[in-house]
Amino acid sequence: MNNLIDGKKVASEIKNEITQKISYSISKGNRVPSIKIILVGDHGPSKIYVNAKLRACESVGIDAELISLNDNINQDELSEIIKKLNSDQNLDGFIVQLPLPDQISVQKIIELIDPSKDIDGFTNDNIGSITSKKKKLMPATGLGVMTLIERYNIDIDSKKCVVLGASRNVGGAIAQMLVEREDATVIVCNSKTKNLKSLTIDADLIVSAVGIPNLVTSDMVKNGVAIIDVGISRVKDPTKKSGYKIVGDVDFDNVSKKASLITPVPGGVGPMTIVSLLQNTLKVYCDKFKI
Ligand code: GUN
Repeated sequence: MNNLIDGKKVASEIKNEITQKISYSISKGNRVPSIKIILVGDHGPSKIYVNAKLRACESVGIDAELISLNDNINQDELSEIIKKLNSDQNLDGFIVQLPLPDQISVQKIIELIDPSKDIDGFTNDNIGSITSKKKKLMPATGLGVMTLIERYNIDIDSKKCVVLGASRNVGGAIAQMLVEREDATVIVCNSKTKNLKSLTIDADLIVSAVGIPNLVTSDMVKNGVAIIDVGISRVKDPTKKSGYKIVGDVDFDNVSKKASLITPVPGGVGPMTIVSLLQNTLKVYCDKFKI
């Protein structure tokens, strides 16, 4: 297939660039970049993502430490840990892996994170800066999607881009990043949008960030559409040793026959979200050490 957007390959190229930059900084006598990842509880998919993030950090020379917390932790206890990380001068950034247990208010926790250390780009300050001329730390998945659009020269100038999913950190952020380009026509759909097909059928680019397998079927798209599938869902698959497989929002087998470019799941946006975390870490680090 020559219409595949290879997120793994792009992520690997960016990782090489990051590795070189960090090596250069260390050769000048600076310390290594350092981050922490907070994981609360025993959520299976989260453990997999966090391990992938830790491995990616190691591969580029970022010192990353896991803080594993019991799932009965309360809001005050987690808040205290975040405050300590905020004031750690030798720490460049940290993330709190989501989801969090029900007793914790996610938004309150995110807003406690010092925006200058928020390498996920989830705080109001960072998300708000999408629409500012002075961009801060961009939401990681959105940054990954925009990087794929740039590196694959997806032409959105005067084109119709439909974003499915309007969540603050992902779909909404991606839509706003597309608007910021000032050349595309951007339509954002949410769970209340009626007749999705009437909007997707003449889209030149569809970015789907919903988490519903097979939401986008081939009758909903036109020939030559570019597709970026941000969805990640686990579905049962008895042929797999684990008993499940990971799929996106798009009926890949059929939609890929009509698409000019399409991301696979896994191997499309996923590796880009991770590499964006590394890019945000590098940004904080380079600003600090004036590299
Ligand atoms: N859970 C799923 N994706 C993400 C992500 O990009 N960042 C965090 N912190 N949690 C997540």
